[in-house]
Amino acid sequence: MTQRMTGRTVLVTGGAGGMGVASVRALAAEGAHVGVADINADAVRAVAEEVGGTPLVLDVTSPDDVERVVDGFAAERGGIHALVNFAGIVDPRPMDEIDPESWSRVFDINVRGTWLMCKAVIPHMPHGGSIVNIGSRAGLVGGTTSGASYAASKAAVICLTKSVAKFAAAQGIRANVINPGCIETPMLDSFAPEVRAAMPGQAALGRLGRPEEIADSVLFLAGDESSFMTGAQLNVNGGSHM
Ligand SMILES: NC(=O)c1ccc[n+]([C@@H]2O[C@H](COP(=O)([O-])OP(=O)(O)OC[C@H]3O[C@@H](n4cnc5c(N)ncnc54)[C@H](O)[C@@H]3O)[C@@H](O)[C@H]2O)c1
Repeated sequence: MTQRMTGRTVLVTGGAGGMGVASVRALAAEGAHVGVADINADAVRAVAEEVGGTPLVLDVTSPDDVERVVDGFAAERGGIHALVNFAGIVDPRPMDEIDPESWSRVFDINVRGTWLMCKAVIPHMPHGGSIVNIGSRAGLVGGTTSGASYAASKAAVICLTKSVAKFAAAQGIRANVINPGCIETPMLDSFAPEVRAAMPGQAALGRLGRPEEIADSVLFLAGDESSFMTGAQLNVNGGSHM
């Protein structure tokens, strides 16, 4: 069977997290060499070993980390074909309980980290490439359960993706964003039990999404099947927002 990503090098941030691991596995199963990038060093090594990829330990908020890891990985692999930015955090508190430090931390990781990664990887895509950012349904409808800082940061990721798409189009680089609904990953553990319990009911399909269902969209956007898409959003949410 033909593998869709044979010969491609893909860097996945948040690659040790719930959705990240599923996408790393799917990309590797389709023939890609995957750089598994995350702040969680032990998990990075385990996931990279499982898929025969490259372990990349980094904090996406650190320009030095990002530059060192991206430049080293690109040099080792002779360039990067696709970047997937899963690294992110949530502060699930109501907006009147969020403190300024947490607000900044959410924006640092979700927005600044995504921007730093795009900025560092683009020069290593001289023959074109694909960038897949991760927004959220919350970035479209506002934060209720998800917290105001998280929702605002994901709206920023959606808009950042459009800027990246315009900036890099002349270089043959596409940039698109996936907006997941509630997906069953460790991130949901940070919500209060009653909030967590209500999540499946938000979706017309009446359930949480599986990380593998986001990985299918990552494969589509990272590969050639989406060759005429850039600056676009894929809402993968089970019908929780139409
Ligand atoms: N789970 C959901 O319902 C849901 C819905 C919409 C969007 N998202 C987004 O999807 C992405 C993946 O989330 P997930 O559900 O897999 O969560 P997760 O918590 O399982 O994974 C997030 C990963 O990001 C890593 N990370 C955090 N800070 C980092 C940093 N500074 N540098 C590098 N890595 C860092 C964590 O170590 C973790 O492995 C996030 O951007 C999240 O906001 C999640």
